Amino acid sequence: MRLGLSGIRKTVGRVTARRGVQADADAVHAERAVAGARGLGSGLASTVALAAVVVSAGLAGCDSGANAQSGSASASAAASAAQPMKVAAHEAAPAGGQTRAQVYESVRKVSALGKRLFFDPSLSGSGKLACASCHSPDHAFSPANALSVQLGGSDMHRVGMRAAPTLKYLQSVPAFAEHYHESDDEGDESVDAGPTGGLTWDGRVDRGGDQARIPLLSSFEMGSSPAKVTAAVKAAPYAGDFRDAFGKDVLDNDDATFKAVLQALETFEQTPELFYPYSSKYDAYLAGNAQLTQAELHGLQLFNDEKKGNCASCHISQRTMDGAPPQFSDFGLIAIGVPRNRALPVNRDSRFYDLGACGPERTDLKGRSEFCGIFRTPTLRNVALKKSFFHNGIYHSLEDVLHFYAERDTNPEKFYPVVKGKVQKFDDLPRRYWANLNTEPPFDRKPGDKPALDDAEIKDVVAFLNTLTDGYKAGN
Ligand code: HEC
Ligand code: HEC
Repeated sequence: MRLGLSGIRKTVGRVTARRGVQADADAVHAERAVAGARGLGSGLASTVALAAVVVSAGLAGCDSGANAQSGSASASAAASAAQPMKVAAHEAAPAGGQTRAQVYESVRKVSALGKRLFFDPSLSGSGKLACASCHSPDHAFSPANALSVQLGGSDMHRVGMRAAPTLKYLQSVPAFAEHYHESDDEGDESVDAGPTGGLTWDGRVDRGGDQARIPLLSSFEMGSSPAKVTAAVKAAPYAGDFRDAFGKDVLDNDDATFKAVLQALETFEQTPELFYPYSSKYDAYLAGNAQLTQAELHGLQLFNDEKKGNCASCHISQRTMDGAPPQFSDFGLIAIGVPRNRALPVNRDSRFYDLGACGPERTDLKGRSEFCGIFRTPTLRNVALKKSFFHNGIYHSLEDVLHFYAERDTNPEKFYPVVKGKVQKFDDLPRRYWANLNTEPPFDRKPGDKPALDDAEIKDVVAFLNTLTDGYKAGN
């Protein structure tokens, strides 16, 4: 029996719409790649553009695989989602003068290089930090350690202000929009879902390549430069493969090399079997191939129930109307009042606040008070493999996160500092932005009310969250 459906009809519509958006976005993505690659060496332009096209087609291919497992209605849905990409591939292929097989081969090469780059610490200023140092493949590409924020910089002692997120299931994050609307055929177009999408906690970039630029150049992360990256690639065992994929002159120009590195990383991050396999126990359950235990089922029910966790209103748990698997996020940027993490060095300055979309890391919405304190809702797929939670990494267990949701408003003294007997609620968001805070359940309570979830219920929700880990095999 499916649970709590009525309560989350709205969000089901939302995500359905998103698949359409994604298909469009991928077609646009392919086009942009064609345009964007023009500034690079001649060999690179066609390879990169075509790589983007085929990678996009690959996304749909993966989804159809997942859908095929999960039900028959999904096959046509996946086909329609793939449509715009097929068109794009058709149009782009003749332009590049390559056959489909050649295109696939180009993507394979670029993706394999992206993988080498992802694991290569020599790209960093210190020579010690790779993408994989903070995004460990064994932890769904989130950190292997339990630090709130990771160490980096030239001396490997510098820290930023945010927890490193998982890199899985980012393929369905739509481009950032201040006002997100459903597509007309799949949801209610008149509903403004508010700020949605974009990569990083504040949604400040839309493409994997643009994102990769951030840690490579950041003084508290990899602290590198296009010149250093080029020198590293030239000296790497894969230099020959790099020239082979991007053109023999690519390493003669720092900017061309850097752009190719970003493109390769972006392509690698779209490898379906590594980044969006849809192989969790919950996926098997949705496909009718696994049973949830009583605790897991109860946890799912509480997760969906509008009056209890109401988690699914933001972390969508149902398949879309067209049968695509749930992403466990609607990708909305939302303020939930996560407490200030006083262990972070940046927070020693009492005037400093990480306000998410309105800055300081993100600069284009600076001064727009309605964007202060909002962060992108993360997927909960593989969340049990993470060791630090929320944008500032303040909590280190799912139980602690669940207690925050259940008791933030009934027992705020458990989460915020108490000064002279008075609770300093929402201590990481200046009062003038409190209007941005979400007030829907479970955040609709006041001191003295019963928490939305008790300890036993929290245990069951955590049991359910554990079914979202990829790599499930029947019998374990
Ligand atoms: C020092 C640790 C560290 C290193 C090294 C690092 N990252 Fe990250 N990564 C982070 C943090 C922290 C964030 C969140 C940043 C933010 O919200 O401002 C992030 C975010 C991301 C995101 C966006 C995820 C999302 O949910 O939107 C992607 C993609 C990503 N990193 C890829 C990479 C790649 C590729 C590299 C190597 C070039 C890399 N990272 C190196 C810490 C790191
Ligand atoms: C109103 C939307 C909303 C609701 C309802 C909601 N969440 Fe979240 N969730 C978010 C946002 C936004 C974040 C990131 C907040 C931040 O870091 O500032 C988040 C973060 C999380 C995280 C941390 C993930 C990570 O990678 O760090 C977990 C776990 C989580 N939510 C679980 C739940 C559960 C369980 C429920 C139900 C009890 C729930 N959420 C209800 C929006 C929501």
